[in-house]
Amino acid sequence: MTGLAMAAALIAAPSFAAPAADAPDPAADLKAFQKYFRDKFPKVKFEDFVNGPYSMDEGLYRQWKEKEEFPPYEFALDLGKELMAKPFGNGKTLADCFPNKGVGIRQDYPYFDTEQGKVVTLELAVNQCREANGEPPYSYVKDEMAAVTAYMAFTSRGKPFDVKIPDDPRALAAYENGKRYFYTRRGQLNFSCATCHVQSPGERIRAEVLAPALGILNAMPIYRSEWSGMGTTSRRFTSCNSQVRGVPLKPQDEDYRDLEYYLSYVSNGLPISGPGARP
Ligand code: HEC
Repeated sequence: MTGLAMAAALIAAPSFAAPAADAPDPAADLKAFQKYFRDKFPKVKFEDFVNGPYSMDEGLYRQWKEKEEFPPYEFALDLGKELMAKPFGNGKTLADCFPNKGVGIRQDYPYFDTEQGKVVTLELAVNQCREANGEPPYSYVKDEMAAVTAYMAFTSRGKPFDVKIPDDPRALAAYENGKRYFYTRRGQLNFSCATCHVQSPGERIRAEVLAPALGILNAMPIYRSEWSGMGTTSRRFTSCNSQVRGVPLKPQDEDYRDLEYYLSYVSNGLPISGPGARP
């Protein structure tokens, strides 16, 4: 952990993170959240916030542009496309479970499912589809799950996140729970997600440049050299919990789904850029 990050941990959280005395107001949160990042990084173009660490550092940005010429996630895109169309034992396909066969829809996830009474992420929707058709679920963290979500992200590139909070008290409660999770300190280091991704984006932890929380899910899933492969949102959440020497939750735990709901909502308007490639 760098001294800078340690110091950042001691700084008070930005005011929009404070528990509101008034009724929850996601639209106001979104405005304040986006303004915080625009003000903090006036030189970063709004759409560029979706490029994680690359938006924060010009040298890295150039490396990334070069990398995009031979994207390391290409294999995953081909596999994802194939898996979407491959018939299950019953003849149906993964594509059949999604609007528009899963093409160009990534920006609408996660959504609050009023029938199930919970947040449904893209990853959860994939496994719900498989299980409903008598197929075993994919691992949430990599391989096939990363491939199909990579393909869905790729076909949605450029479409702005459009996550909705329906007029349902349970949806608002899920949003508030995700927000609470994001700003709660945990682990032996006593860091919240916000300590690193709101207060310290652009700073380095070991060799890594911290991504800003604004647009932080737009590039998921990502290829990481450190993983020698692709990882999903679930994988990144669990590894970030481990970074602070905390105990990660199970992938797709309610708290993680609500967290994804909150983080995606406050990035509404920013284009999907996934899959991403990281050093
Ligand atoms: C100790 C600091 C630290 C904390 C706390 C932390 N992360 Fe991270 N996170 C990192 C580092 C380092 C990376 C890899 C470099 C980067 O992309 O920021 C990362 C990457 C990510 C990424 C991928 C960004 C990208 O574009 O590659 C996501 C998403 C993410 N973190 C979410 C979270 C969430 C959600 C939490 C809270 C559960 C959290 N992080 C807590 C350090 C942290």
